[in-house]
Amino acid sequence: MLALDHVGKIYPNGVNALEGFSARIKPGEIVAIIGGSGCGKSTLLRAISGLDCATHGSIVLDGLAIAAPHEKIGIIFQEPRLLPWLSVLDNVAFGLTDLSATQRRERAEAALARVGLANKADAWPRELSGGQAQRVAIARALVPRPEVLLLDEPFSALDAFTRTDLQDHLLDLWADTKPTLILVTHDVEEAVVLADRVMVMRPHPGRLFEEIKVDLTRPRDRASPLFEGVKRRVLNALDRSLDRAPPAGEQPVTGAAMWW
Ligand SMILES: Nc1ncnc2c1ncn2[C@@H]1O[C@H](COP(=O)(O)OP(=O)(O)OP(=O)(O)O)[C@@H](O)[C@H]1O
Ligand SMILES: [Mg+2]
Repeated sequence: MLALDHVGKIYPNGVNALEGFSARIKPGEIVAIIGGSGCGKSTLLRAISGLDCATHGSIVLDGLAIAAPHEKIGIIFQEPRLLPWLSVLDNVAFGLTDLSATQRRERAEAALARVGLANKADAWPRELSGGQAQRVAIARALVPRPEVLLLDEPFSALDAFTRTDLQDHLLDLWADTKPTLILVTHDVEEAVVLADRVMVMRPHPGRLFEEIKVDLTRPRDRASPLFEGVKRRVLNALDRSLDRAPPAGEQPVTGAAMWW
């Protein structure tokens, strides 16, 4: 269980980026976080990752207070951040410590195969497409078998087709070991296709505004009326989070609504 209690962050320059964020996130749960630019989503994720400390409240994973990066918690950023001087395989193996060289190689090869890139093991990161590089980043984050995987807009730099493909792929990989996933996104469809619940945040200061449960069976049909209905609820909450009244009646939803 990941327990967030009144988590807040005031940066040294005085910006109150996050205030009073509380949530209980169960093992294996998938949570999407969505909200206007600057509402503290990345601040929250960095605090949970231990990369940057919260200034208020507490973050506790299975009884362990998180104040520094921990092997139980992995993170994937918008850009893959691969190490250019290491091969693809060595990038994946990089996060594996306490194993023999052979075991590291075997685990990394299996993870690469799992993301469909077994044939790229000896390639250099610069030889990969954007989607392939992000798949390597996913393999690298999952290979130490984290209990919590944090994703900060992991697919937003990719084209729509690759994005949809990787969303499905992420769910396949998640099913292997069922880590808790916390995903920041601007894409309402991505949130609804992946998450068990969507947390909508609002800015000034960043805080939790509303939670929407996604009670749809998987795999989810993006074209179904039920799916459209949940998307509409999320869009409506986003509008209200910015004090922007939705038009009278129902909010029209077409395609993959991106929220910036
Ligand atoms: N290192 C920092 N020092 C000072 N202020 C910061 C720092 N990082 C972020 N902020 C401020 O904190 C607030 C929240 O930023 P954050 O990056 O968490 O927002 P976000 O929700 O991830 O936005 P986006 O959707 O644009 O990525 C913003 O006002 C931002 O300017
Ligand atoms: Mg951000």
